[in-house]
Amino acid sequence: MEKYFKLNNKVSIPSVGFGTWQTPDGETAINSIKIAVESGYRHIDAAAIYNNEKGVGAGIKACGIPRKDLFITSKLWNTERGYETTLKAFEKTLKDLDLEYLDLYLIHWPATSNQFKNWQELNSETWRAMEFLYSEGKIKALGVSNFLEHHLVPLMEFATIQPAVNQLEFHPGFMQKDCVAFCIKNNIQVEGWSPLGRGEVLENELLKSMATKYNKSVAQICIRWALQNQVLPLPKSVTPSRIKENFQVYDFEISEADITAINNMDDFGSSGLHPDSVDF
Ligand code: A2P
Repeated sequence: MEKYFKLNNKVSIPSVGFGTWQTPDGETAINSIKIAVESGYRHIDAAAIYNNEKGVGAGIKACGIPRKDLFITSKLWNTERGYETTLKAFEKTLKDLDLEYLDLYLIHWPATSNQFKNWQELNSETWRAMEFLYSEGKIKALGVSNFLEHHLVPLMEFATIQPAVNQLEFHPGFMQKDCVAFCIKNNIQVEGWSPLGRGEVLENELLKSMATKYNKSVAQICIRWALQNQVLPLPKSVTPSRIKENFQVYDFEISEADITAINNMDDFGSSGLHPDSVDF
């Protein structure tokens, strides 16, 4: 298993990223980023709405690794959709992170027909601003998050630069198989948020038996399983031992039969956040 995947615009992306959703700003963010980088992570997944970009940025500064060797993602929040608002929101994120450029910028959630008559235009105008920032060299790759096929198709028809990434909720028992297959077919790298099902899948009996079999933790089974499904996992932790553990996934391989068994696991349930029904 490679430590890097290649995006559709030839940019290399480290194949496990460090999630920062629900990481408190300040010392906790700074320390967890430092520990993550010491543990081997080179990919940090941030977002404006996580309210911790200053701490994440300070952690990036403090970790002592050259900027070019890190891969930093952020996301545009829902209230900022549109051309001018996207440009402004991007500048704020860059300032909060104290960076000169981002490796990847995502539309955090699609504007949908349930909320907006002009939902396609909102997504397109946001995308147009992101394409401008890409052309200026301020973003190295563009993508989306929580887009299902029916949100992606109109955007792909509009786009001059095709989305390189779609970040989806992805963990055992919630695989979004159709959307993942659509993305793979269209050369869009899928990233998985909450690869540990917010910590809840860790008690699952099948996964526990796999952990015993491979002499790994359940968290490591979930992360490795995502990778073997061509999905880039983004585990989050603020606990030093878990941060380290979650990166130790390159030294073993789950058999095809066991991958299939996990793929066929009963629905575990998701966070309940569905792009067509969220109203934030
Ligand atoms: P904490 O941050 O307190 O260490 P997900 O990435 O699926 O959203 O899961 C994140 C949740 O899982 C957090 O509550 C995190 O707790 C917990 N977690 C992360 N890594 C592990 C691990 N290796 N073992 C157990 N729990 C973990």
